[in-house]
Amino acid sequence: TSSSNEQILSAYKWLEKLYHYLLRFSKDGQEGKEYIAKRGLTNETVDLFKLGYAPNEKTFTASFLKKKGFHLQLLQKAGILVNQSDGEIIDRFFGRVIFPIRNHLGITVGFGARSIDKQEPKYLNSSESSLFQKSKILYNFDLAKKYIRKENEAILFEGYMDVITAYQAGIKNVVATMGTSLTESQARLLRRYVDTVTICYDSDEAGIEATYRAARLLEQVDCHVKIAVLKNGVDPDTYIQTYGGDNFINKVLQPSETFMSFYMRYLKKDFKLQSKSDQLRYIQTVLKELANINSSIEREYYLKILASEFNFTLESLNQEIKAFLKPNK
Ligand code: GTP
Ligand code: MN
Ligand code: MN
Ligand code: MN
Ligand code: MN
Repeated sequence: TSSSNEQILSAYKWLEKLYHYLLRFSKDGQEGKEYIAKRGLTNETVDLFKLGYAPNEKTFTASFLKKKGFHLQLLQKAGILVNQSDGEIIDRFFGRVIFPIRNHLGITVGFGARSIDKQEPKYLNSSESSLFQKSKILYNFDLAKKYIRKENEAILFEGYMDVITAYQAGIKNVVATMGTSLTESQARLLRRYVDTVTICYDSDEAGIEATYRAARLLEQVDCHVKIAVLKNGVDPDTYIQTYGGDNFINKVLQPSETFMSFYMRYLKKDFKLQSKSDQLRYIQTVLKELANINSSIEREYYLKILASEFNFTLESLNQEIKAFLKPNK
């Protein structure tokens, strides 16, 4: 109900302030502070993103909220507190760095909480509710919006740290899905603001797979998709912390691939291209995808690449693609 949502939002407001204060100024936040420093974030960045620290004490938050007069059961539903089997209500997040998750209006509707040691899972999130739906929120959309508009381009990352590190390096048109696949509602949200979305996911297998799915979805809602490719399992945060924002702009974003070049590369994993029959099947699959491109010079560009790679004439590929083209092309 709306009044319980108001209570939950109010709890988030208090906790965001409290955790942030602890991280920045208190002895209880020392471990969090050291972790944040290790990750290369400045105080200015910590303040902007309102990062915080939930102390390593199982009932710290529960006692705070109780003192403030909150209805503790409600906060269990929100996933801030948990009810143990012995009936004791304890904190869900402790000994973790807190990432407030704001909706597009800038209101904090959830937390992501990262462990600072080897504690699993690496991230814990608030529970899904009518207030907090990961599938509808893009992390940092509220701050990035004006830069996304200005550049007519959004850069899409996987995680909180990618966004925060890029933003700190001055690359501000950045948002992230929070580990889950891009959804249609997120794709449409982006499309309302930009023509072009650059996907820059982690360069591990999961990231590459997710890149394909996100690209497909964005193409379907009529976005122009670019793909910024990292290597060796690196993610944008690690890249920027290691090589700096300028290198990220010049060596990663600037040479971004088109969806089609990415697709032609990505698809190869499904074929054994030493074999002639697989080559033919690969070419057929690429042609099918190419047929969706409306511009004939753009199609020709990729046909030429295919022709030279597999030693066919452009004419024969042009002949072959006809079967897949819609009649009006
Ligand atoms: P760091 O190790 O802190 O740099 O995190 P990362 O952002 O590089 O993590 P990763 O690439 O593994 O995941 C990307 C995003 O997925 C994270 O920012 C989280 O939003 C989410 N995520 C990752 N691991 C978990 C997890 O164990 N549980 C949940 N709920 N979300 C996760
Ligand atoms: Mn992970
Ligand atoms: Mn990842
Ligand atoms: Mn990552
Ligand atoms: Mn990372």
